[in-house]
Amino acid sequence: MKVLLFGSGAREHALYEAVLKSSLIKKEDIYFAQTGIFAQRNIIEFINYHQLAEKSRDIGITLLIVGPEEPLAQGICDIFMQFDIKTIGANKYWAQLESSKSFAKEFMHKFEIKTAKYITLDSPSAINNALASFSNPPVIKADGLAAGKGVYLPETFDEAKIAAFEFLAGKFGKASERIILEQRLAGRELSVFSLWDGKTLLSFPPACDFKKLSDGDNGENTGGMGSAFPCRLSDFEANEIDNYLSKLENALKKSKADFCGVIYSGLIMCDDGVYVLEYNMRFGDPEVQSVLDSFCGDILDVFLKMTQGKLNEVKISFSEKPSYCVVLASSGYPVSPRKGFEILNLEFAQKCKVKVFFAGVKKIENKFYTDGGRVLSLVKTGENALVDIYNVAGKIKFSGKIYRKDIKLR
Ligand code: GLY
Repeated sequence: MKVLLFGSGAREHALYEAVLKSSLIKKEDIYFAQTGIFAQRNIIEFINYHQLAEKSRDIGITLLIVGPEEPLAQGICDIFMQFDIKTIGANKYWAQLESSKSFAKEFMHKFEIKTAKYITLDSPSAINNALASFSNPPVIKADGLAAGKGVYLPETFDEAKIAAFEFLAGKFGKASERIILEQRLAGRELSVFSLWDGKTLLSFPPACDFKKLSDGDNGENTGGMGSAFPCRLSDFEANEIDNYLSKLENALKKSKADFCGVIYSGLIMCDDGVYVLEYNMRFGDPEVQSVLDSFCGDILDVFLKMTQGKLNEVKISFSEKPSYCVVLASSGYPVSPRKGFEILNLEFAQKCKVKVFFAGVKKIENKFYTDGGRVLSLVKTGENALVDIYNVAGKIKFSGKIYRKDIKLR
């Protein structure tokens, strides 16, 4: 079989390595839609998804695996299905669970899935009245996709008001023409990945994402500075999550959700139970790096079973040891990361059996340079995995390297 993998970051690098382990495919039969450090051959150039699908069909590709959210929101899977190519990724309609916060809120409301109280706004004249209905400053969220930057957590009502005006005035272009004001919840956050084949929901145990830039959960919100898998759960928490996932499965069944892909529930554990903060329709980065490292089995076989509507036959299992991912980022991230510095000592990773997944990295004549905010994901599974990861994190050198020193199971 031949597979096309869409995306070129650390998440897709981890997916690529996981697919490569499958006995069902050979390295030369994995194709890429974007060039990346791990994707230097079998690149299919394209000017639009229609052309990409046509070229993929001509090459004999039978499965598309989509990493990031944008192509899903733009309908890449709908187009590939027209060419009889199976897809792992939501169609355009269901991608709205991520690409439209108001769509997701309406879905949760309809199926009585617990989520924070919210108000949708598309006019600045309604901001004052909307703010007055909250007892604490609400979270301001762009309705659409804003490259992970469209959420603002104000400390005061004045900050909330300014942010709401800025969002509606076009801070994130079309994505913030509509916004959500949402009650701020307190609790620990968990990421749960579920696979859905149109009939069955198969969920992985929760993973922890370390979203804040600095140790102790301080600093700015980022795409994720590290992950640990699995999360430690009390019986109450495990029960809450099971109940939530049953509700989600029923909601998808009742909605006749006709796609084959991933649903990532961003959950928050509050005193009175679990709430959904957001849905994403793809694997989370960097959570999936640790989740896939722990995964025992053939992920490509799981994907194929999904496309055959046989997810009910799939059993998944994970290492009994914990898995971790520590992200090495470049100073200035997440606002304006510095780029262009040589990355040295990568060979230490191999010595310590730590996997390196490339994100914001450029290769010029066999040398690696920083080229983005999150640069590398360092991943390992095992009782002492963190010691090895932090040993490697210290040894790898590039100007402006930053990373959290407090990634752990929690
Ligand atoms: N780790 C958060 C995300 O992938 O959106």
